[in-house]
Amino acid sequence: MKLHHLALAALLVLPALPAGSAPKTITLPPDGIQLKASALPGYAKAQANCVACHSAEYMAYQPPTAARPYWDAMVKRMKGVFKAPIADEDMPVIVDYLVKTYGNEQPK
Ligand code: HEC
Repeated sequence: MKLHHLALAALLVLPALPAGSAPKTITLPPDGIQLKASALPGYAKAQANCVACHSAEYMAYQPPTAARPYWDAMVKRMKGVFKAPIADEDMPVIVDYLVKTYGNEQPK
């Protein structure tokens, strides 16, 4: 009998869920965090080069103490390791924007 089979299936499946535990909630940052707007020329370049693979939350979560060489290495790593199509001549401008917007050269 069909119904009976369904009930049996439900019994077999349900115990696999952790009994009594509330559904796991994972708090994600607000969807699609945008790059912080800036008058620096690197802002537009970063928009074009840095948010194709991940949102700007990655930048937002970097330590505000991070200095220029850190951001430089980061941009180079995005290109070298993850093959981000960033033109070499755009890199210093992007690094400049990053360190002044998220790093240790932020206006106080
Ligand atoms: C081709 C895809 C791609 C592009 C384009 C890209 N990234 Fe990433 N980025 C990644 C991946 C993949 C990770 C995750 C690396 C990991 O988990 O270790 C990442 C991680 C990061 C992180 C987190 C810190 C870390 O070390 O993992 C930062 C910050 C970051 N990217 C900044 C940038 C910046 C700035 C740019 C533009 C210059 C950029 N990304 C462009 C793929 C990309």
